[in-house]
Amino acid sequence: MIQFFSIAFRNMKTVGTICPSSPMLSRELAEAVIEARSPKRVLEVGPGTGPVTKEILKTLRAGDVFDIVELSTEFCQDLDSKLLDPWRRQGSPARVTLHNAAIQDVELEAGSYDCVVCGLPFNNFEHELVEVIMHRMLELLRPGGELSYFCYFGAKTMKSTVLDERGRDNLRAIQRLEDELHLSHSGTRKVVLANIPPAEVRRLRKP
Ligand SMILES: C[S@@+](CC[C@H](N)C(=O)[O-])C[C@H]1O[C@@H](n2cnc3c(N)ncnc32)[C@H](O)[C@@H]1O
Repeated sequence: MIQFFSIAFRNMKTVGTICPSSPMLSRELAEAVIEARSPKRVLEVGPGTGPVTKEILKTLRAGDVFDIVELSTEFCQDLDSKLLDPWRRQGSPARVTLHNAAIQDVELEAGSYDCVVCGLPFNNFEHELVEVIMHRMLELLRPGGELSYFCYFGAKTMKSTVLDERGRDNLRAIQRLEDELHLSHSGTRKVVLANIPPAEVRRLRKP
């Protein structure tokens, strides 16, 4: 928790929160992965200190592939030493790869993932970047695959009160994109109150 707070404080724009996701939120984000049958291919984007990663690791079986993409080198080092190394030492036959990169830049196989789980703080980004990242993640899914992401409940409304007109326009553009994707990808939404702050998990299914 202190490690997360310290890195988050120095990288507020890309981390977007001071608390890692609660066990309830982490489990809800990983729900599509828990439901998916092995052998499966899973991608996690923006794991931070790894509360969702832990839930995903528990579901892996022989033949599964799990790619993790994290921008921050500090979070990657932390994740490797505290979570992935101990997990590998247990001798699991699943293939887990950590990429220290931005999701919009990393090379991964398009159309190949059953599930993408995303922890990025979209409301902190320019809407053009959110669009690029959303389309990239959907491109990586196989048809019928699922993308799960979250946003803090009521965050756009609260943020709007402290932003200038340009900032409010940006949030409105993000909202429009999320609504369009919700409609075109059979979207579902679920509120998770047991998190600081409360959050909403959104799931999109690639047609
Ligand atoms: C809100 S934190 C989420 C942490 C974790 N998933 C959780 O639930 O506690 C967002 C994470 O996304 C990472 N990140 C931000 N932009 C990214 C990008 N373009 N590609 C990959 N990771 C990114 C940040 O470094 C940070 O670790």
